[in-house]
Amino acid sequence: MAAYDVVIIGGGPGGYNAAIRAGQLGLKVACVEGRATLGGTCLNVGCMPSKALLHASEMLESAQKDFAGLGIDATVALNLPNMMKQKDDSVGQLTKGIEFLFKKNKVDWIKGWGKIAGAGKVEVAGGDGQATTLEAKNILIATGSEPSPLAGVEVDQKRIVDSTGALSLPEVPKSLVVIGAGIIGLELGSVWRRLGAQVTVVEFLDRICPGMDEETAKTFQRSLTKQGMTFKLGAKVTGAKTSKSGVSLSVEPVKGGEAETLTADYVLLAIGRRPYTQGLGLESVGITPDKRGFIETDHFKTSAPGVWAIGDVTHGPMLAHKAEDEAVAAIEVMAGKAGHVNYDVIPGVVYTHPEVAWVGKTEEELKAAGVAYKAGKFPFTANSRAKINHEAEGFVKVLADAKTDRVLGVHMIGPQVGEMIGEYCVAMEFAAASEDVARTCHPHPTRSEALRQAAMGVEGWTMQA
Ligand code: FAD
Ligand code: NAI
Repeated sequence: MAAYDVVIIGGGPGGYNAAIRAGQLGLKVACVEGRATLGGTCLNVGCMPSKALLHASEMLESAQKDFAGLGIDATVALNLPNMMKQKDDSVGQLTKGIEFLFKKNKVDWIKGWGKIAGAGKVEVAGGDGQATTLEAKNILIATGSEPSPLAGVEVDQKRIVDSTGALSLPEVPKSLVVIGAGIIGLELGSVWRRLGAQVTVVEFLDRICPGMDEETAKTFQRSLTKQGMTFKLGAKVTGAKTSKSGVSLSVEPVKGGEAETLTADYVLLAIGRRPYTQGLGLESVGITPDKRGFIETDHFKTSAPGVWAIGDVTHGPMLAHKAEDEAVAAIEVMAGKAGHVNYDVIPGVVYTHPEVAWVGKTEEELKAAGVAYKAGKFPFTANSRAKINHEAEGFVKVLADAKTDRVLGVHMIGPQVGEMIGEYCVAMEFAAASEDVARTCHPHPTRSEALRQAAMGVEGWTMQA
């Protein structure tokens, strides 16, 4: 029986980062992954393929709609098979990259599905039907999440797809109904709208992107609507009928009223994700997931001695960088170091056009907590680089404590804000006051000047606008 300091179950951003860090710290480590390739949801069917399609479709739409305004006459056309191929090629390179890093850091990749078989034991069922038992001083669960189902709307990955199916549709739908106005629905809905589909988004709540700063979410919805996306808010899908050529959906207002039928070539179900612990043998070590299926942890430790858990399978935002931070911290704690995750500074980004990015508290959260705050806001219409590039949509909003001026939250919408939010993550890690950012020299002309101007706005001394 092979013996390890740590056996990690799951090879996604949580699992693979943990495995690499364990290797770096000299621990004997194995990572059990059932998929044919490493990288988990993120690399195989999540972050990376979705960003590949978002980038390519944004380029296409930009060439079709924006180039003329820059004095460029161009005729471009979609080649869907090639667009899919470049996505698949990039994903292949990334997953191979993890394999390389495993070898470099002496991580054993055990191929197959892992199951905890009592304290310190992980059983792996390989593809050949052979079971291997690994002995582990520590077991780290990083099994991630899967799409949440909806009663009456059966995903067949043909006409009714989840995010995985929506990353590989065989054609551009004439019409696509997206169920759920969350991040997946809006990112993948944007891809297919740009490629030519008529996209209707049905959302249960009376707003899009629950949890996002409300003013930002409203601006975001207005922008997506202007781009041609249709929203049906406060509506629930109660059933779906699929035929060879499409789907008909029964939709009802949440508050009651007439039901209607929506028809579409394809339907994307994107109403959230749920923790994945199927067949994991949690009962063998006495772990009971909570009502929603999450494994509860305290500093990455579960209720079972020697069993740890991180990433989507635990509480908190289901984001790759959250899983990655937890991975490094959990292994460091395991190795006797001071691993730490600052849950107050985990950024979020929606990679649409415009992008939406945030870190820290929303205005609604500060109000609910009774925290007195000041807001500084700066529109990109007053940023010279944004104007000159004809990309002046959106704003930056900085929320700072009214007494101490400490930055508590930042919310932005506009092109490339996903690349800009990192500056405020660093500022917040260093407990910056908004004045610290306001007095920091930023290069001109760049969009990043808007970050500084918004901070200046907290004290009311913005230079422009
Ligand atoms: P996962 O990545 O889900 O990895 C878990 C792995 O464990 C899987 O490979 C699974 O096969 C394996 N596994 C499960 N059970 C077993 C078992 N018993 N034995 C062996 N192996 C097992 N996040 C971002 O931060 N940015 C983004 O842009 C982004 N885009 C996304 C787009 C889409 C379409 C989706 C679906 C998700 C996106 N996410 C994004 C979320 C991100 O993918 C997840 O938060 C992240 O992958 C979680 O990492 P994880 O390691 O916890 O789990
Ligand atoms: P989500 O939680 O972001 O959004 C789901 C939406 O569906 C919500 O608006 C919710 O109100 C709505 N909804 C729930 N039940 C419904 C119903 N029956 N009918 C209609 N609407 C309903 O979940 P989503 O978009 O599936 O994404 C899952 C997670 O994946 C995200 O929360 C995020 O953590 C991660 N992700 C991150 C990305 C990024 O960082 N850019 C990109 C894609 C996914």
